[in-house]
Amino acid sequence: MKEYNHIGWKRIRVLVTNKCNYSCPFCHNEGQSKENNPILMKLDDFKSFVTFLETEKIEELHFSGGEPFLNPNIVNMIRFAEERLACDIGCATNFSRITKEHLETLKGSRVKFNVQFPFATKDAFKKSTGIGNMDTILNTIKMVRDAGFQVGLNSVIQSNDISSVKNLIELAIQYEIPLKLLPQIGLKGSDKFKEFIIPLVEEYACEYLNKGTGALRWTLKSGSKRIILLLIDSPCFYNDIQSCRNFGELRINPDFSLQPCILRQPSERLKLSQGKELVINQLAELWKHFTIC
Ligand SMILES: C[S@@+](CC[C@H](N)C(=O)[O-])C[C@H]1O[C@@H](n2cnc3c(N)ncnc32)[C@H](O)[C@@H]1O
Ligand code: SF4
Repeated sequence: MKEYNHIGWKRIRVLVTNKCNYSCPFCHNEGQSKENNPILMKLDDFKSFVTFLETEKIEELHFSGGEPFLNPNIVNMIRFAEERLACDIGCATNFSRITKEHLETLKGSRVKFNVQFPFATKDAFKKSTGIGNMDTILNTIKMVRDAGFQVGLNSVIQSNDISSVKNLIELAIQYEIPLKLLPQIGLKGSDKFKEFIIPLVEEYACEYLNKGTGALRWTLKSGSKRIILLLIDSPCFYNDIQSCRNFGELRINPDFSLQPCILRQPSERLKLSQGKELVINQLAELWKHFTIC
C-alpha cells in the first residue's frame, strides 16, 4: 500500500491507560492525571485509529501509559498495529506485569521494549518505584531477550549524583543492553545534568552522533562489550520547537485526547466515529499549528 505523510507527525505515542502500579516520584505520566480516574483505551477505538493510519508514512508507533501492561488488550493492540503498519513498534513499560503468556502471544513480533529502570542498586530501585524489585526486573529482561525481543533501559536522572549514573552505565555495559538517560523533565536545574553526565559517558565512548532531535547518541565500548547510549537533552528545556518538530511525536491519551506537548494539557479529542478523512485532517491541522512552545 502506498503511504503519504498527510498528518505531519512522525511518531505516535499511544497511552493505553493512565493507571500505574509503580509510584515513581518524577513521573510526569505523559501529562495525564494519575488521580482517581483510571481510564483504559478501548480495543475497538484503537483498531479504528490504526486503520485510519494505514496509509500514513510514520516512523514509529510507541505504546506507553501509565503502565501499558495494565490494559488487558495490550498484546492484541501490539499485534494489530504491527500487522497494519510498516513502521517501528515500541513499548515503554516497567516490566512488572509482562508474563510468559504475553510473550507466547507476541512470538515473532517486532516490538521493542523500553524498560523503566531508574537505579542500578536494589534499595534505590525499590525506593524510586514503590514496589519494584530490581533483581526480578533483571530476570524478566533476560526472559524477554531469550524469547527473541529487543530490550533497552530508560533511566530518568533525578539528581546530580554521579555514582548513580556511573552504576547505571556499568550495569548497561555488563548486560550489553542499550541505555537511555533522561534528565527529569519538570525538575529545576536538570537541563544542566548533561554537564556531569557527558564526561562519564566519554570514559567509554568510541563514537558520537547528535541526532538533531534532542537526543545525543554514543557507542560505548568496554572490553569486548558495546552498547548504544542515548542522552535526552530535551527540547522542553530550551523551548526548542524546531528539535521537537524534528522528533515529531504526538501523544494520544486513553480517551483519544491529543497532546502535542508534554508540558501542556491535551487539546482536542480525535473524532473517531466521524471517519478517516476527518481524523487525518484533525491530526494534520494540529501539526500545522504546532509551531510554538
Ligand atoms: C510515563 S512512562 C509510561 C510507561 C511505563 N510505565 C514506563 O515507565 O516506562 C514513559 C517514560 O517516561 C519517562 N518519564 C517519566 N517521567 C519523566 C520525567 N519527568 N522526565 C523524563 N522522562 C520521564 C519514564 O522513565 C518512561 O521511560
Ligand atoms: S512506571 Fe512509568 S507510568 Fe508508572 S509511575 Fe513509573 S514512570 Fe510513571
